[in-house]
Amino acid sequence: MKIHRIIDDIYRLSTNIEDNTYLFEGIWPIPHGISINGYLIKGEKNVIIDLTQNIFDFPREITHQMEGVALGIEDIDIIVMNHMEPDHSGWLREFCAKNSKAVIYCTKKAIPLLQAFSAVPPERAIAITDGMVLEIGDYELQFFDTPNIHWPETMMTYERKRGILFSCDAFGSYGSIDEHAIFDDQISQEKHQFFENEALRYYANIVATFSAFVVKGLDKLQGLDIKVICPSHGIIWRENPAVIIEHYRRYASYSKGPAEREVTVVWSSMYGNTKQVLNMVIEVLRKRNIPVHIFQVPKDEIGYILASAWKSAGLIFGMPTYEYKMFPPMAHTIEEMMVKKVTNKKVFRFGSYGWVGGAQRDFEAKTEKSGWDILGHYEWQGAPTEEDQQAVREALESYCDTLIEFTK
Ligand SMILES: Cc1cc2nc3c(=O)[nH]c(=O)nc-3n(C[C@H](O)[C@H](O)[C@H](O)COP(=O)(O)O)c2cc1C
Repeated sequence: MKIHRIIDDIYRLSTNIEDNTYLFEGIWPIPHGISINGYLIKGEKNVIIDLTQNIFDFPREITHQMEGVALGIEDIDIIVMNHMEPDHSGWLREFCAKNSKAVIYCTKKAIPLLQAFSAVPPERAIAITDGMVLEIGDYELQFFDTPNIHWPETMMTYERKRGILFSCDAFGSYGSIDEHAIFDDQISQEKHQFFENEALRYYANIVATFSAFVVKGLDKLQGLDIKVICPSHGIIWRENPAVIIEHYRRYASYSKGPAEREVTVVWSSMYGNTKQVLNMVIEVLRKRNIPVHIFQVPKDEIGYILASAWKSAGLIFGMPTYEYKMFPPMAHTIEEMMVKKVTNKKVFRFGSYGWVGGAQRDFEAKTEKSGWDILGHYEWQGAPTEEDQQAVREALESYCDTLIEFTK
């Protein structure tokens, strides 16, 4: 990948993780990759905004990109660390060892992390204050404290003469970036849809837990005249940055509910007894014109389930009893939903048991603080009878009525 000019002497430095066996954050599969973007301002003083992860050959690759504008590591005067997560800061230790003059601008909360993650002493850092402006020749960098989007120490940097927001993880998405299409105006409608899906999945996997902070952050940015958004992951928005701002506002709003009039059905079945009811469940929802997204656990990947659940106003779980509790992979999926604060949902559960059950009790206990409105459940022993099918059908019709009312 080569270095790309954004405007004037502001450049993008970027690499894609394209190894599809790699798990982002050690958990999330990235079958379509992810870009890690940093930015460079070449001027009276040379500034680098966010670095890269110390994996594969990324530091060497970024060094090579910098050489494209005749800059080396030792030429950098200022490092802006918007966020200390190692996908942006992994290179910092080596960078600072090779460049002893660069000063680091970051939040106060980031300073101990500089030391802990990168062995960079506090003397090299300048703690920003919210709204503070750093003038460097023709560039004016304004720093905004935006805690918890994504870690507590996270901030954003705004080049206020040109209206460029270096937003770090906010407005990010999964998905590798094509060398020839790094801006929103260079990609097809189909690619826009791809990045919208990847942004939602990124949001649900990485940012969702902190949705209240996303809303606060968006409110803080509201007064700015943002012309370009340069995130740490994903395409650069220069034609219509309002699109990704609007997506993020919508994603954050799903935590308050109602989300979209859609249902995510998550099911598992050891011997097919729970599965026998599944087709009917889907049929009832479709007949009511409610879009359905179906996932089987543990077969389907949890990152995708979370994205779908985040966007859906309704959740339906089909799972049997296993050792007096929920089927374990389902318990894990639900636990992960609790961590990500998937909340304000209309919920129904069905499933088979062998002798006394236990899954429903476990389900209710584990979701007690979920903020879910559990509209009903139905369990049966062994294989479902016609009466069982009919009972689930009736319960679901009423579930659909409530969901439709909820999402009006
Ligand atoms: C490993 C295992 C553990 C089970 N534990 C329980 C249990 O604690 N209580 C119960 O009522 N049934 C239990 N069952 C029975 C299942 O819940 C029952 O076979 C049910 O019909 C399975 O539904 P499925 O075919 O959709 O997987 C267990 C079954 C298996 C294989």
